[in-house]
Amino acid sequence: MRIDVVTIFPPLLAGAFEHSIIKRARERGIVDIHVHDLRDYTADRHRTVDDYPYGGGAGMVMKPEPWFRAVEALRVAGNPGCAILLTPQGKRLDQGLVQQLAAEDRLILLCGRYEGVDERVREHLVDKEVSVGDYVLSGGEPAAAVLVDAVVRLQPGALGSSESIVEESFAAGLLEYPQYTRPPEFRGWRVPDVLLSGDHGAIDRWRRERQIERTRVRRPDLLADIDDVSETTA
Ligand SMILES: C[S@@+](CC[C@H](N)C(=O)[O-])C[C@H]1O[C@@H](n2cnc3c(N)ncnc32)[C@H](O)[C@@H]1O
Repeated sequence: MRIDVVTIFPPLLAGAFEHSIIKRARERGIVDIHVHDLRDYTADRHRTVDDYPYGGGAGMVMKPEPWFRAVEALRVAGNPGCAILLTPQGKRLDQGLVQQLAAEDRLILLCGRYEGVDERVREHLVDKEVSVGDYVLSGGEPAAAVLVDAVVRLQPGALGSSESIVEESFAAGLLEYPQYTRPPEFRGWRVPDVLLSGDHGAIDRWRRERQIERTRVRRPDLLADIDDVSETTA
């Protein structure tokens, strides 16, 4: 998979893709990530990317021309990729959308700044608009970092054998069960006996029950989307 990120602040993203699972996935050739400076696609000597909003109002709006030049230059014949504008007005990112995006060959991510981007970028350039949540960030870079992280860890071979996506939160529409490691007792708080019992059947049952209970308490909306909880978790 190839991912291109277009931003006016490339250094904000440099470190985000140079550690841990993403670093390993890049080294293994599982994902090819490129960060581009939007200003490289401007045509004036001041490398201008923004201008005053028509109709007045606070702040500046990102001009359409650099975005069109950048995305059109990055799109290659036969593999145009899926161009995604990060915006609080987009479809809210969840594990289902992450799975869809992880199946693409190529993503081109557009990080907005200021008051946002000229509407013609939304209407005529991008394929999707994605939000990372119902709050407003100063720019699309943290949102792009979130999206890239979630997508890369779903690529086959990106996780080591000790890391599993099968039992993670949302994988089966439920939150994950509680996790413990050594010591068995810390400040008087004991690890549940069943986890120390060696009885794998009992451990599986305990984990399924905790998943359902935890999801019911914290995210009842997730349970509403599942037809048969016992089947999903069996
Ligand atoms: C200050 S925001 C602009 C918000 C815009 N004026 C509005 O009300 O929709 C600047 C940029 O940050 C990014 N951004 C902010 N919040 C975001 C979110 N929740 N998800 C994805 N991107 C976001 C977008 O790229 C946006 O263009």
